[in-house]
Amino acid sequence: MKKIVFVITLVSFAACSFSQTTAKVYLIPEPFSMVYGNDPTFFLPQKAVIIIPKNEEVKKIVGDFVKQIKKATGYFFTTKEGTIASPRSIFFSLVNDKTIPKEGYRLKTSATGISVTANEPAGIFYGVQTLLQLFPKEIASDQRQTIQGGWNIPSVTIEDHPRFGWRGLMLDVSRHFFTVAEVKDYIDQMVKYKFNLLHLHLVDDQGWRIEIKSLPKLTEVGAWRVERTGTFGRLSKPDPGEKATYGGFYTHEDIKELVKYAADRFVNILPEIDVPGHSLAAVASYPELSCTPGEYYVSPGDQFMIWPGGGQHFYGTLDNTICPAIEKNYEFLDKVFTEVAQLFPFGYIHMGGDETARNFWEKSEQIKALMKKENLKDLDEVQSYFVKRVEKIINSKGKKMIGWDEILQGGLAPNAAVMSWRGMKGGIEAAKMGHEVVMSPTDFAYIDYMQGDASIEPPVYASLRLKKAYQFEPLPEGVDAKLIKGGQANLWTEQVYNVRHAQYMTWPRAFAIAEALWSPKEKRNWSDFAKRVEHHFGRLETANVKYSPAIYDPIITVSKKDTTILVKLDTEIEGLSIHYSFDNSFPDNYYPVYKEQLTVPRDAATIKLITYRNNKSIGRMMVLTIAELKKRAGIK
Ligand code: ACM
Repeated sequence: MKKIVFVITLVSFAACSFSQTTAKVYLIPEPFSMVYGNDPTFFLPQKAVIIIPKNEEVKKIVGDFVKQIKKATGYFFTTKEGTIASPRSIFFSLVNDKTIPKEGYRLKTSATGISVTANEPAGIFYGVQTLLQLFPKEIASDQRQTIQGGWNIPSVTIEDHPRFGWRGLMLDVSRHFFTVAEVKDYIDQMVKYKFNLLHLHLVDDQGWRIEIKSLPKLTEVGAWRVERTGTFGRLSKPDPGEKATYGGFYTHEDIKELVKYAADRFVNILPEIDVPGHSLAAVASYPELSCTPGEYYVSPGDQFMIWPGGGQHFYGTLDNTICPAIEKNYEFLDKVFTEVAQLFPFGYIHMGGDETARNFWEKSEQIKALMKKENLKDLDEVQSYFVKRVEKIINSKGKKMIGWDEILQGGLAPNAAVMSWRGMKGGIEAAKMGHEVVMSPTDFAYIDYMQGDASIEPPVYASLRLKKAYQFEPLPEGVDAKLIKGGQANLWTEQVYNVRHAQYMTWPRAFAIAEALWSPKEKRNWSDFAKRVEHHFGRLETANVKYSPAIYDPIITVSKKDTTILVKLDTEIEGLSIHYSFDNSFPDNYYPVYKEQLTVPRDAATIKLITYRNNKSIGRMMVLTIAELKKRAGIK
């Protein structure tokens, strides 16, 4: 009896949630509202005229849409200016409708046609991104695809707009350099998920990546280091006389090209010049920037910063800071920010401000003199003095300054916006003081962290699974929502040597961040999201974008009972079975299936794990030595 009731419930749920004639859609990010239509799907005709408004930006957006359709389907569409939809047409219109919020759009697809309506070209652009996600996944291909049954689009009515205006991804182009073409490609991928901000971390200890014409050594010297491959922080220093040949930088022309490419896709580029810490590339170029006379080099990833842990402050064995006590350094910074401000039209410039090692400042006579002169009581105030002077420079170029949350230390600069990374608390504190905030906490938004078990992911010092990233809530309670501009995920690239791995680290976690920043909070639903993620894996594959399959691998929790090791296994998504072995052979779905906590046999040497779904292997083969399990359990 129970079974019958269940079946009837399922059927009626399916009938009212979407019609039998239209396929289920899998959108990321989830739109503000979507209703399935009752009529059949829209079959894409082989030839069509698309009606567009008289607007150059829309013409370009639709032109790119037509090109994508042509590549994947071979169908040939033309555009015509007009204001009235004809039967079975694809119709784009710009309106003046106060009920459509900023960047919002309306999209209706039915058997009789498609319409995308917005107040501004940005809305049309996001409508097109959604429309492309309604097509079969093969639409993402650059090669001609054949679809059984033809190219059809489900019937839906969507009203959509973003929850936040700042929807960012940060790409660290200092630790590893990414070419203009690679950055453009990254932009192409991010806009499909409605990100609108690319934060470029342009300078760090491992390389200065932007031409500053008035300071040529920054790129002649600072853009290059000796080549090393391995684990960041454990790489060897330059040998005496060794040539620095590894790196690269963006010329002014490159930056202009990137800015234009991004703007055409409604993406702002936020440039970051990270000072006063993380500045070894600048100091190697102009050693006079340092409080500490010495020989400097662009770091290949050797260990010159020490993180002792246990609550102790980090310190440098090499002074990688720009000295706040040297007056000429503010002239240097003025030159840098003059050119940066001219190149990037976005209203904000990021000045870094994070992780400044101050152990050399402690000993510096110049710093002591500055403290006396400016009545600064400690090094927090020295740092704050520097940040406030940088803010004056940036404001004098007509830009607003944003910095990592360490800029709160010693007193926040008067107009500064704060990017909160060490959790949300810096952002909350800044918002309570009336400052603008962008949230990018390590706990949810650090996509340089490992996304699965350390045994199968490239080693990084921390982990962030997709499920956790999906819990990112940028708007904390008790603060003025207007001050929380949005959020972003940050891809630091110490361990990211190439663009394929940058993609792997970004996807699928950036799906989660996109949804946190675009979709209504009430629509957050992990198991529904996980299904959409799996569908979008197919889209990434079609577009030749690498992604991490870590959601298919088991989560391993190890504990001990006396000297026995206990292993708990779990999965991030539903419907997987975990098979295991302790006998050194590789398990398949005929091996024991995990049901409850395992006790590791006394003489076992390895545990091997793999997940299956519907009798097909889906996860990766995981191999952990028992020695590793012992370490995790804290058994000596
Ligand atoms: C940071 O991750 N150091 C901002």
